[in-house]
Amino acid sequence: MRASQLLLMSTDSRVDLCIRTNQRPDDGIVSTALSIVQSLYRGPELGLLTYTPLPDRFSPESNRRLPSSLKGAAQYLKTPGIISLGGGLPSSEYFPFEEFNVKVPVPGSFDDKTHHAVMSAGKHDLAQGKSDFDIATAFNYGQGYGSAQFLRWIVEHTEIIHSPPYQDWSCTMTVGSTSAIDMGMRMFCKPGDWILSEEFTFPTAVESAAPQGVKVAGVGVDAGGLRADALDKVLAEWDPTVRGGPKPFILYTVPTGQNPTGSTQSASRRKEIYAIAQKHDLIIFEDEPYYFLQMDPYTGLNSPAATPPASHADFLASLVPSYLSLDTDGRVMRLDSFSKVIAPGSRVGWITTSEQIVERYRQHADVSTQSPSGMSQLVLFKLLEDTWGHPGYLDWLLHIRAEYTARRNVLLDACELHVPKSIASWSPPAAGMFHWVRVDYTKHPGYGSMGRAEIEEAIFQANVKHGTLLMKGSWFCPEGQKEGDAMFFRATYAATPLGDIKEGVRRFGEALRDAFGLEADDNGNAKELAGRIGSD
Ligand SMILES: Cc1ncc(COP(=O)(O)O)c(C=O)c1O
Repeated sequence: MRASQLLLMSTDSRVDLCIRTNQRPDDGIVSTALSIVQSLYRGPELGLLTYTPLPDRFSPESNRRLPSSLKGAAQYLKTPGIISLGGGLPSSEYFPFEEFNVKVPVPGSFDDKTHHAVMSAGKHDLAQGKSDFDIATAFNYGQGYGSAQFLRWIVEHTEIIHSPPYQDWSCTMTVGSTSAIDMGMRMFCKPGDWILSEEFTFPTAVESAAPQGVKVAGVGVDAGGLRADALDKVLAEWDPTVRGGPKPFILYTVPTGQNPTGSTQSASRRKEIYAIAQKHDLIIFEDEPYYFLQMDPYTGLNSPAATPPASHADFLASLVPSYLSLDTDGRVMRLDSFSKVIAPGSRVGWITTSEQIVERYRQHADVSTQSPSGMSQLVLFKLLEDTWGHPGYLDWLLHIRAEYTARRNVLLDACELHVPKSIASWSPPAAGMFHWVRVDYTKHPGYGSMGRAEIEEAIFQANVKHGTLLMKGSWFCPEGQKEGDAMFFRATYAATPLGDIKEGVRRFGEALRDAFGLEADDNGNAKELAGRIGSD
């Protein structure tokens, strides 16, 4: 049995931490959790991994990094009896926080706003033996990988969900995936390099690459996400002279609920892409903020809803396997984030990859972001370790998955009802927060006299005129769009109130009919459906 299964079964997964309480609370108070031995929380001994080309792959910037001398000195705090006159850590005596209490929902009644737990942290809980983590520790400086206490939870979680198939994988905390993308690119790329991504991608990745002198080459997608054949073709035909840069070896991909297309790569698609990555020796940046927002399938207007997973085991089995879980070579750097499943303002995430990559990342973090905010880490630790535990967190993920499924269904029902199918088409998203609508602009009255970009702008403005906002597909294209390329608009159902989602989509349909000069009820089958869906 893997550690992941054991952890789910245990009621108290607390295991030894390498914690040193440096001084007594009444003395002046430094409590430092120095490190965890990550292998304690990983699965059984699997093969050790050494991804051979890796040392040649690190960028000159990464190769110039040296370990932080000041952070390195922290190891001596373990020396029995040592009096530290070294570290510039302020005394927690001067932290103006004695205790915090935060109300949180409890597993089993997430919908019941009157039912909650209060989680508390005191200044010296650790030294007083009340908790593994406290204000004095969390609110002080930490190491680049984050606090030992919360990192342990993250490693356990990663083992439960992904069970990476090699031994020397490791996690290190990030201040969110945006920063991890930036730092990851700096670790491997130099000016003049290219990386690969879906042909429509998260613009922040492109905007992070550009000032580093790194360009992003788009790879063809279909309704199932990134196409393995297109990836193979781009790499096989890569001409450094034409492109003005060497053949890329980084693939940045968002496999689940991709932003902006909403597509999710199936298990078989991921295996095909992993095989292409092996063939061309790619490193995969697997950016997965929407991984747990995998939903029940959309069954259509007025069809019975699909049955959600009945247990944690069913839920875990329903998740598409991650690249990390397929990564026998150690060529995947997975980016996780609490932004979409807990709160973006936490600014806490983590990467999971081989220890050699984690070590480089941590060295960079030590002298840039440092660790994520200790305040965030303590709140998350109290929630995920002390209050919910791993099973409670899975309950929460099931809860928000159901919430997003309901939101997506409202949007798709409204599309069925209001959006003219004679010019618009879509595939129901199976994960994430985005809906990607293709618009056949060759049917626009200006087609032939207006350029593609002009028509896209005209439709965008028609939406605004009718009181709804959708994003232009071209904004997500790293290499821009050409005449003749398909046209898309992105809608999200993430946060808009349900009634506004319906109204926004109705206005979108109206705007399209206006822009394309269609009859008021020309939405394919709107008349017929109108009677069936009810009034709101
Ligand atoms: C694909 C993708 N990656 C990363 C992020 C940002 O994540 P974080 O808040 O962890 O920086 C987003 C947010 O929109 C996203 O869509």
